[in-house]
Amino acid sequence: MTQEIRCDSLWYGADIVTMRAGKYHIIEDGALAVTDGRLAWLGARDELPVVHSIQTTDFGGGIITPGLIDCHTHLVFGGDRSDEFEQRLQGVSYAEIAARGGGILSTVRATRAASQQQLFDSALQRLQTLLAEGVTTLEIKSGYGLDEASELKILRVIRQLGQQVEADIRATCLAAHAIPPEFAQRPDDWISLICTRLLPRIKAESLADAVDAFCEHLALSPHQVERVFHAASQLGLPVKVHAEQLSAQGGSRLAARYRALSADHLEYATPQDALAMAQNGTVAVLLPGACYLLRETQKPPVDAFRQYGVPIAIASDANPGTSPALSLRLMLNMACMLFHLTPEEALAGVTTHAARALGLQDSHGTLERGKVANFVHWPLTRPAELVYWLGGQLPCTVIYQGIPREESLYPK
Ligand code: NIG
Ligand code: FE
Repeated sequence: MTQEIRCDSLWYGADIVTMRAGKYHIIEDGALAVTDGRLAWLGARDELPVVHSIQTTDFGGGIITPGLIDCHTHLVFGGDRSDEFEQRLQGVSYAEIAARGGGILSTVRATRAASQQQLFDSALQRLQTLLAEGVTTLEIKSGYGLDEASELKILRVIRQLGQQVEADIRATCLAAHAIPPEFAQRPDDWISLICTRLLPRIKAESLADAVDAFCEHLALSPHQVERVFHAASQLGLPVKVHAEQLSAQGGSRLAARYRALSADHLEYATPQDALAMAQNGTVAVLLPGACYLLRETQKPPVDAFRQYGVPIAIASDANPGTSPALSLRLMLNMACMLFHLTPEEALAGVTTHAARALGLQDSHGTLERGKVANFVHWPLTRPAELVYWLGGQLPCTVIYQGIPREESLYPK
């Protein structure tokens, strides 16, 4: 009996880079059928069953990739830190600037002073720039409020962005980003406030999908991070960590014990950390923008991640201090040049493994039957071109939940 498909839209005339299992797995001259925003069928065009589609598009060449995923950003903040960028270029270190009350705390001052509308407007501009490069899923962290009201203000802005743009936005609470100035003499009280007031409230109001913490000598100690992870786990919220960025503190191993979705940065991680992450399914999120901007010479243990099978994701870390990066494609190139990833690994890092870093591996990240129909058509011949071209804009057609996205504005 001939198989028949009824669908909302049918797309063909391009090679489909499925990224299944983190590999290109290309279907040459492929076809995709979409029903209710999901992939109902995909395969070679000459194997296509009889299709009754409401709408049909022939791309006439090019490649189709999964929608790109930026799994680590700090897009909601007030002000900027170009002054500190200039200071760093004159030889003042990131840690010295932080010790003088700059760094994260200078963005905290600007973010507290900004209204919810101002934060929304400035974040929307940055978000649109990132989305224009074929991004369809993006994570945004709080962490520049560092008091209850300001952290909630940021998380509300993130939820608002998620309602107003055509992209899947995940919110992460990073109240454990630093010790606020008001708690400088009693830092553990800030941790208690996070655990007993903020996280329960965030959980009750569904304001975050995960909880993050910055484990570093200039931020939180492993013990303080563990208290936050314990509280988050009790509430059923998954955890993530900023770890081993400036020094080895054991944050990634600690996060792995809590079955963290991801451990991020990792320049100072060891092969033992990689093993612990592998054993617990924790993704390594590498952030080449921050490594580059801090002129870090220590590189993450990529060979150990490969050896133990730790999935590697790549993200922009878009933030005003260490990575004012508004191009995920540039991060792909940097991941290859700075961390020696292959273009295929880099692309898996913003698709397959980035989805896993957000706990979305069952619905996002690859082009497979049943997954959300977020995909991008590029008039290119090979997927490595996404990693190869530097700067400028690559034309692309973004399909979000089965429907072409307007490239000028993203109203939902
Ligand atoms: O991911 N590492 C900690 N947090 C941010 C940057 C913080 C800042 O300097 O504003 C990061 O690099
Ligand atoms: Fe970060």
